[in-house]
Amino acid sequence: MAIGIICAMEEEIALLEQDIQSADSTIIAGRTFIQGTLYGQEAVLVMSRIGKVAVAVTTTLLIERFHVSQIVFAGTAGAVAPELKVGDVVVANQSVQHDMRPDEELTFRVPLIEVGYFQSDPELTQKAFGAVEEYINNSLHNDIPQQHLQQFGIRQPKVVVGTIASGDEFVCDPAKNTWLYEHIDNLKCVEMEGAAMAQVCYEYGIPFTILRVISDCADNDTPFTFDSFIEGAAKYFTRGSIRALLQA
Ligand code: ADE
Repeated sequence: MAIGIICAMEEEIALLEQDIQSADSTIIAGRTFIQGTLYGQEAVLVMSRIGKVAVAVTTTLLIERFHVSQIVFAGTAGAVAPELKVGDVVVANQSVQHDMRPDEELTFRVPLIEVGYFQSDPELTQKAFGAVEEYINNSLHNDIPQQHLQQFGIRQPKVVVGTIASGDEFVCDPAKNTWLYEHIDNLKCVEMEGAAMAQVCYEYGIPFTILRVISDCADNDTPFTFDSFIEGAAKYFTRGSIRALLQA
């Protein structure tokens, strides 16, 4: 059975679309699902578009119409943990919807299913962690064009495993960033899709994980760093990390 690969934005998925072989495309609900062989594995590749509803629809279609056996989300995120810088990578062992606040208690639990923190598949998460670490150590400098490498700063990027928070909000406010860090267990970064995909996978019993490269620090500088990262390194990094995972 195929693995489903989701990215939210054109810039993130572009090179994967070039690399997928024997591809067959199907358009459903305005999304193009590409079935083929990606780095030696049967895969279905799709751009969800941005936000929790967009990715929930996409994930449901991958499961119901393409019968994928597992799903990986790959893309960019804003750093929340102070030790993370642009170019570092987070692999989610759990994810939470930070805008799911049905009561005052801030458990982020989704009503009626009573889960707040959705657990990624431990084996897939470990495999992704190892693959990305390998990619950073051995291939990153040859794989990413020189002009974009500067975006990673002078130090070698690092990979961490931890919590990813998702919400229908682009965070670029230091006060919001601090609030998230203080209220969510082991939070590493913030984005707009991962935990919604996680909820759909949880409800269907499909293993999944989430891979995010830091494009900005979810603070006042964010609109600038996000734009230049998404136009520069993001597509190379997404391809490199998915290739490393599928070939691992
Ligand atoms: N994706 C990338 N950066 C982000 C941010 N700062 N907030 C939400 N989603 C993001």
